[in-house]
Amino acid sequence: MAKIAEKKEAWASRIGVILAVTGSAVGLGNFLRFPGLAAEYGGGAFMIPYVVAFLLIGLPIAWVEWSLGRLGGTRGYNSAPGVFRAVCGDRRASYLAILGPLIPVMIYMYYVFVEAWCLGYAWNYLSGGLLLGNNPAEYETFFHGFVGSQRNGASFTGHGAQALIFLAICFALNFFLIYRGLTKGIEWFCRWAMPALIICALIVLVRVLTLGTPNPDLPEQNIINGLGAMWNPTKPGQTLGQALSNPEIWLAAAGQIFFSLSVGFGIIITYSSYMKKDDDVALSALTSAAGNGFCEVVLGGLITIPAAFVFLGISIVENPPGTFGMGFVSLPNVFNQMPAGPFFGFLFFFLLFLAAVTSSLSMLQPAIALFEEGLGIGRKASVAMLGFITLIGALFVVFFSKDLTALDTIDFWVGNVCIYVMATIQVIVFGWVLGIGRGLDALGRGAEIRIPRLVGFIIKYVSPVYLIAIFILWLLHKLPDRVMALGNVEDGEPPVAALSVGLIVIVLVFFTLIINRAVSRWDRRDAAETEVSP
Ligand code: PHE
Repeated sequence: MAKIAEKKEAWASRIGVILAVTGSAVGLGNFLRFPGLAAEYGGGAFMIPYVVAFLLIGLPIAWVEWSLGRLGGTRGYNSAPGVFRAVCGDRRASYLAILGPLIPVMIYMYYVFVEAWCLGYAWNYLSGGLLLGNNPAEYETFFHGFVGSQRNGASFTGHGAQALIFLAICFALNFFLIYRGLTKGIEWFCRWAMPALIICALIVLVRVLTLGTPNPDLPEQNIINGLGAMWNPTKPGQTLGQALSNPEIWLAAAGQIFFSLSVGFGIIITYSSYMKKDDDVALSALTSAAGNGFCEVVLGGLITIPAAFVFLGISIVENPPGTFGMGFVSLPNVFNQMPAGPFFGFLFFFLLFLAAVTSSLSMLQPAIALFEEGLGIGRKASVAMLGFITLIGALFVVFFSKDLTALDTIDFWVGNVCIYVMATIQVIVFGWVLGIGRGLDALGRGAEIRIPRLVGFIIKYVSPVYLIAIFILWLLHKLPDRVMALGNVEDGEPPVAALSVGLIVIVLVFFTLIINRAVSRWDRRDAAETEVSP
């Protein structure tokens, strides 16, 4: 397929693209979602399915995305639909990639809201709003008030409106950086935000690991036992075998690997498409996956649960409070009891905020790339268009805040279901359409490490089978309840779950139309080029 003759953006440096991909990967998933899941599924036991999923699907799909992206990029495309067209050599392949821009845009609509909570919490530590004393119920009330989860529309009035201000700041920051472009926006921000967040995390980590036994009346609640609560392979009353025989632990681990590594969405395809033809992708992919693993297992895994255990006791793993409950209710209570707690509370939420921004930026770029190259419009128009769409979506999520139903519904259908589908499509395109031989050649080009041949086998057979098996298991487990939930409507309340799915469908239709335009545009261009050079 012929090249697009327009001038292409490109990363300024190799470390820039690695930091940008790692920035996309390291996010709320590392510091909130991972500890929450590990606590729920038995601490150390969770690591077994987690490592298996990393080796069988996480890393292989990261390699797939990095190589597909660079290959498509050298042929002039940056969006997943364009890259699929170039790689498959078929105009219809663009439609297969529709989830590429759709998933990140939909995730952005709720992720930016949580990003705003992090900024809001950091600010409230500075301004004293989170110095709430020793009654745990106060933290719960603060959280519900802040996110507006008591009733729909709560975020638009009273105390809840605070979150809207932080949402506006996050929106402005994200779009300002995206508007500045790849190198001056994304790369520039990741270059200082990534080291900054790791320094903040290390400071908080040292504080947590030196907590000792803060309350001598409760000698059991010491940091060593806290580490044990996170890492021992068995929970009280449960053997390792029992933990591993629960299918949910395998599903949760696979889902976490995707979400955390940002693989399966097509984000890495877009990022790596801005690389040069001979830049290494094999080692870069491994480096960013390892960087994400470090932030997740070491930083995320050693901070949250051990600290919560020391102050709140074993109940934190016996009755884990859920991802948001852990991060925004239990932890503020923990910081309150810690020496110099407000300072560490501020650092913790500020690092979460930085981690969230580098992730949310990566959710915007795939759609920007599609608008630019598919519609032939400039950066300004693309940014304005995407800003408008995501603003409507985010306001939808913020408005329907009761019990966070809209957020949760979109997270389920897009952040879980669609990811499996898109990841499966990608491995199949790589292993079967492009062909494993050509695929591995693409991966090996310029590579600074040798990829074992076994990886080819894994990508061709093991990853798709593992993905499909897990997906079916997961649908059987979770889908019936979710489908039923679409019909659940409380008296006098709007059908929020069904409306949220409606929103996803509207955005899907919108992206189909965009891809339609793009495909005809590319067809016309290719036809014109063949006429000129017969
Ligand atoms: N990987 C990010 C995290 O761990 C989340 C993310 C999801 C980023 C989707 C990009 C796209 O928080």
